[in-house]
Amino acid sequence: MGGTPTTKPDPIMVGGDLSKMLSDDKKAEEEAIALYKSYIKLASDANDPVSRLLFEEVLGEEEKHHDTFTKLLEK
Ligand SMILES: [Fe+2]
Repeated sequence: MGGTPTTKPDPIMVGGDLSKMLSDDKKAEEEAIALYKSYIKLASDANDPVSRLLFEEVLGEEEKHHDTFTKLLEK
């Protein structure tokens, strides 16, 4: 899709209390949601409906994860 693969991993958040860990997880889900939305746009612009559908399905899973962490933080 015109990108360049990387082998550099993103930083891993470690430690903190439960609230901090849940907040870190929620933030990671927000980043994943933004990333998959950008992939959906790329696939759509490339007229690639199969990839777009795949990314939409993954986006749905990431939104469920985000909902889970949001609800846990409200408790
Ligand atoms: Fe996730």
